Amino acid sequence: MHAVVLVGGFGTRLRPLTLSTPKPLLPIANRPLLERLMASLARGGVTHAVLSLGFKPEPFLNAFPSNVCAGVKLTYAVEDRPLDTAGAIGFAARQADIHKRGETFLVANGDVLTDLDIADLISFHKSTQAQATIHLTPVEDPSQYGVVETDSQGRVLRFVEKPSPGQTTSRNVNGGTYVFEVSALDRMPGVAPLSIERETFPELVRDRQLFGYATNDYWIDAGRADSYVRANIDLLQRKSIHAVEAISSESFIAKSATVTKSVVGRGCKIGENAQVVGSVLLDGATVEDNSAVVDSAVMGHVGSFAQVSGCLIGVDGEVRSGAVLRDAKVPDAS
Ligand code: GDD
Ligand code: MG
Repeated sequence: MHAVVLVGGFGTRLRPLTLSTPKPLLPIANRPLLERLMASLARGGVTHAVLSLGFKPEPFLNAFPSNVCAGVKLTYAVEDRPLDTAGAIGFAARQADIHKRGETFLVANGDVLTDLDIADLISFHKSTQAQATIHLTPVEDPSQYGVVETDSQGRVLRFVEKPSPGQTTSRNVNGGTYVFEVSALDRMPGVAPLSIERETFPELVRDRQLFGYATNDYWIDAGRADSYVRANIDLLQRKSIHAVEAISSESFIAKSATVTKSVVGRGCKIGENAQVVGSVLLDGATVEDNSAVVDSAVMGHVGSFAQVSGCLIGVDGEVRSGAVLRDAKVPDAS
């Protein structure tokens, strides 16, 4: 089966990390997010994926030089301007000749990690005879997602992207994995910006061609500061198909340092009496003596006696010795 994987967003909410590394290539427990996503797709029968990109594919080519990721053959569709989600799907599907194959295909948002069994999603889709099926997942606060109301058969009655308070009572949201019939591509010409969430899905609902398949599987959108860190820590703590190396053997951790519920990448250095709790140190991060790093993701450098909590520290980020930072981005990249 062929898939379109959407990876062309700017990763704004994960700046400054995404200034040096595109969001799908950021590691989750020391493996690129995209590799983990691709492994799930491969398990569901995906053999080929076209990465839908808004910028040069070089970082992806460098990360997967043989154009194979988790056993899936990769090709690239590069937009010359952002086409938004449905524009991107229409463009990439045509670049990869998916429209000519006439087969059911899959689409995935590039920042989602889930234990959803994709083969089950596809079987459900085939049973509906509809043009499209989306995976649904329950969340506590749906305001940051596409909220979906269905009937008891799973037919989608309403799709509201990022609803304002009171607009809907549903807690089931769009999980970012879709199955499409090729006929749905007629709605996505791929030549101009078009939003699948705001235009194509509501149109499919009006035509009674959209179903939702709800599961309680593990699910997270790793594209926000807190959820990126949480996706890493969750993977350490739960059973999963994914192999995990929590602390790279190619890192240096002083004997008096404590590292709790955290991920440490290659070439990291953690100094004497430093504490790292619920955090992700990406490859090459350094945490000096007597500092504390809590609920944060660090690519750069944390000076001695600093306290960092809920922060994203980019590759050029320097936290000064003795600084106390909470919910900050270094360098400030908002
Ligand atoms: N190629 C391309 N071009 N990709 C894009 C573009 C574009 O112009 N804009 C966004 N993307 C990609 C992003 O890289 C990401 O993988 C995916 O489309 C979704 O964009 P996000 O920016 O992550 O959207 P979101 O998280 O706010 O909301 C989406 O995901 C939620 C689930 O995680 C929506 O689909 C919601 O309905 C959904 O609930
Ligand atoms: Mg997202």
